[in-house]
Amino acid sequence: MTPPSLRIPGRRFLHSPGPTPLPEAVLQAMSAQPMDLADPRVDANIAACEQGLRRLLDTRDADVFMYAANGHGAWEAVVENLAAVGESVLVAGTGHFSESWAVQTEALSRRVVRTPWREGWPIDAGAVEQALRDDSSHAIKALFAVHTDTASGVTSDPAAMRRALDAARHPALLVVDVVASLGAVPFSMDALGVDVAVGASQKGLMCPPGVGFVAVNAAAFALAQRNTSPRFYWDWVRRKHDLSYRKFCGTPPQNLLLGMEAALGLIFGEGLEAVWLRHEQLARAVHAAVEGWREGGALDFFAQEPASRSRSVTTISVAGGIDVEALRAVARERFQVAIAGGLGPMTGRAFRIGHLGDCNPAMILGAIGGIEAALVAQGVNVGGGGTRRAVLSLAGQ
Ligand SMILES: Cc1ncc(COP(=O)(O)O)c(C=O)c1O
Repeated sequence: MTPPSLRIPGRRFLHSPGPTPLPEAVLQAMSAQPMDLADPRVDANIAACEQGLRRLLDTRDADVFMYAANGHGAWEAVVENLAAVGESVLVAGTGHFSESWAVQTEALSRRVVRTPWREGWPIDAGAVEQALRDDSSHAIKALFAVHTDTASGVTSDPAAMRRALDAARHPALLVVDVVASLGAVPFSMDALGVDVAVGASQKGLMCPPGVGFVAVNAAAFALAQRNTSPRFYWDWVRRKHDLSYRKFCGTPPQNLLLGMEAALGLIFGEGLEAVWLRHEQLARAVHAAVEGWREGGALDFFAQEPASRSRSVTTISVAGGIDVEALRAVARERFQVAIAGGLGPMTGRAFRIGHLGDCNPAMILGAIGGIEAALVAQGVNVGGGGTRRAVLSLAGQ
């Protein structure tokens, strides 16, 4: 099949939940020539990214380790450092992303205890607490929890994970994946009692894919020091170093880091609270649109509880007979709105609208209008329509 022409008139709206659109300032920062490794600007750029990420994660003392990798790389770093081969971790069930992390952990010859999940619902904190109580020998080294499951569009409460650990009096470390939530909703690593936070560049951080990172507190670093399982590239102990070449276990991905410094500057320049509020308002507008569409009976929220509907991504389940891939192709090629499909068990049963990162009301209205046009073109009943609902929501009515 001939691929569609790369040339499109105007701008295509990117509403996948990552990668997300890049601000001009980030694109420009990345267009600099690379530097020689002894250039002090390299160190200054890395230090700015480390400090900015610490500030964004609201942690005072955690070490930030960045990798030339995606989120899966950062996941792997957590596994390699916190559990030796044959040791156990508990993965709190959220859906596709908790399961992917669990599968990756098992592929690295660690044992995984899972808690079950219910499609469209947040983590069952009671089941997590019970699994921890059942582990009376304290074999479980860490609890892995995904803050926002990007497949289901459900955000869980990390504070409930801390409470479960404390109630069970279990010493496991708390590791939270903030890949899809960081920058969209408040997150305070230290105050929440999170030992390791795991992130990636391509979502709320408004950078291209390619930098995965972890913030590691003293307890987690100490566990990594005691872990004698062989590792090299991911090793936090090896990376805790003043030399940038050692911090990155080789050449740092300079242009990506220049982009990240610029992106962090944009976030703090706008103000973190303003960034969160913007995400809340945009998410509310998307949710208002879905309320309109669901009246037609063909579409519905995947996330069952309004309170746990993500401010980064909305997953919309579709009735049988609707071809999601055809819908996405029409939305992208005819109406210039790129949306995501369902993942894992939701493949073919859902589509997803990303509304995080460098996004504003006009972009959301354009996206909702384009998606609605694609739905109508595909013969999907959109009830009373969603675009006007989004307009009213953004207008505060
Ligand atoms: C919550 C979450 N964790 C981890 C990942 C994995 O990140 P990557 O695709 O960059 O490997 C993703 C990707 O979408 C994600 O949404």
